[in-house]
Amino acid sequence: MRRVKTAILISGRGSNMEALLAAAEAPDYPAEIALVLSNSPEAAGLHHARARGVPAIAIDHRPFGKDREAHERQIDQALKDAGIQLVALAGYMRVLTPYLVTAWQDRMLNIHPSLLPAYPGLHTHARALAAGEAFGGCTVHLVTEGVDQGPMLGQSRVPILPGDTETSLAARVLIAEHELYPACLADYAKRLKVP
Ligand code: GRF
Repeated sequence: MRRVKTAILISGRGSNMEALLAAAEAPDYPAEIALVLSNSPEAAGLHHARARGVPAIAIDHRPFGKDREAHERQIDQALKDAGIQLVALAGYMRVLTPYLVTAWQDRMLNIHPSLLPAYPGLHTHARALAAGEAFGGCTVHLVTEGVDQGPMLGQSRVPILPGDTETSLAARVLIAEHELYPACLADYAKRLKVP
């Protein structure tokens, strides 16, 4: 069967990356994780990826200073060099410039820990709690120039329980993320038209 060559971009611990790597180990999963790339050489997820035998590299953003596009040009080149067809952002904590967004239009997914369009950006759980919401959740969406605003591919709702804190809610939502992202990536990879 066809397996879409996919890269995962991370910045930190990479638990969503691990969920995607685990799912992609099934022979009938429609995406092959061919590369993990981080903007931070210290990202713990890089070690986990290598332990699973997946090539994992860092392209440190710091030497590029304010030139975010120059950093993204290097990322784009690394993706092309690895023959990547689809990109999954998984806790990649850099806001992208139009350069990378345009280069990977309709071929870049992201997961966000809220029920978009509610609470885009940072501190989603704290804001949902402060607003007295009954539900939090997570959303997988295509990446467009507006942060966390692209077309949605799937959502999971997670109840907010009495006494929830930012930490307890984040942990419960994360469990849902680990189910949702592999499912959405699989659906999208199956539908993706690649040359
Ligand atoms: C997740 O909550 C994800 O939704 C958000 O950043 C967090 C990354 O966690 N974009 P991890 O690195 O996948 O564990």
